[in-house]
Amino acid sequence: MRLTAEEQKMLDGAYGETVKRSMKVLVALGEIYGADHMIEIKNVHSPGVSYRVAGNAGLGYVEDASKDATFRVPLTLNTIGIDAQDWEKIGFPEEFARKQLELSEAYERMGAIPTNSCTPYLNGNLPMFGEHVAWGESSAVAFVNSVIGARTNREGGPTALAAAITGRVPAYGYHLDENRKGTHLIRVEMELKTDKDFAVLGYFGGKLAGKDVPVIEGITRRPTLENFKALGAALASAGAVALYHVVGFTPEAPTRQAVIGDDVEPVIFDQAAYDKVCAKFSLKGNVDFVVLGCPHVSIVEFEEIANLVRGKKLKSALWVCTSRMVRDLADRMGFVKDIEDAGGEIVCDTCPVLCATLTQRGYKTVATNSGKMAHYAPGLWKLQPVLLNTWECIQTAIDGKWGE
Ligand code: F3S
Repeated sequence: MRLTAEEQKMLDGAYGETVKRSMKVLVALGEIYGADHMIEIKNVHSPGVSYRVAGNAGLGYVEDASKDATFRVPLTLNTIGIDAQDWEKIGFPEEFARKQLELSEAYERMGAIPTNSCTPYLNGNLPMFGEHVAWGESSAVAFVNSVIGARTNREGGPTALAAAITGRVPAYGYHLDENRKGTHLIRVEMELKTDKDFAVLGYFGGKLAGKDVPVIEGITRRPTLENFKALGAALASAGAVALYHVVGFTPEAPTRQAVIGDDVEPVIFDQAAYDKVCAKFSLKGNVDFVVLGCPHVSIVEFEEIANLVRGKKLKSALWVCTSRMVRDLADRMGFVKDIEDAGGEIVCDTCPVLCATLTQRGYKTVATNSGKMAHYAPGLWKLQPVLLNTWECIQTAIDGKWGE
């Protein structure tokens, strides 16, 4: 691989052992994928920062790195394993919380920005079209590649760390024009109205495309940021989609021809396909737990939830997961009080998928508007899921049940 003089200095150890080790990791990665040079990146969004994912091995690795390295580019932290302020109130175990805080502090010693969120683009890390970045967290990667048109591969914790320490990534994968074209074509033949509809389309597309690049045509109404958030999270979890295009609405797909050839046969997403996905997540009866905020809720979603619960009393537990920044804004607007008065909990920094544990709560069933949460809930916590839109989720929380 061709390295610049500066990159060679990093590899030769001129900036210390951690920088040297990081550059070695990236060179080895580049050689595996046939990269012939490095690319300078603007920023990093680091996954693998929940202690439940990192474990003691990850904690030791990051603590070691923090002894002699700092970040060359800004790095925001993904969702961690606890609410960093209210972990005791929520009931996360003390030993886990202590380890999580040590891990977060090690990142912060190197300069990490403690956003603790899977929506860094709502919390100050908003790349521009065409910029090269190194992001992890599947839903955030899908968003930044597809909706913004910045360029990243799906980084893991160690490669994101190495990228932040060196400010470089090897030039391969979605950093290159030739890998950003579509591979599968989906034609939408129904109207998409709610967040659930976009989650269901995402689930369908993820199963179809796997780790490739779906192109979606036939959407007639401009999707909102929240719609894209729901779509990308489901694409990235039902499959491993890191980049998708929506013809007419995402920046690299002004036309179908710009992203996929004319000779590709479309797969149809219609009411029958929609119903088939919904049938997988169709629990009826008592619902213990309702989760909104996967990915973390925006201030717009916060307001919608507050309007729906204001003056009501909830029978099911409700978690609204978000970042601390968005929560603080919602607090100033009175939305936190509305939700807490109804009996809901605002959970910052974490989520049911990455948190320390949920077993202490004994839930058996979950309602959510997230395709990603519905996908992971059974395997992670043995929760039977039902996928609903936001209004239906809140109605379920009020009634304590769905569909009876
Ligand atoms: Fe975010 Fe957790 Fe969902 S990290 S996308 S809320 S699984």
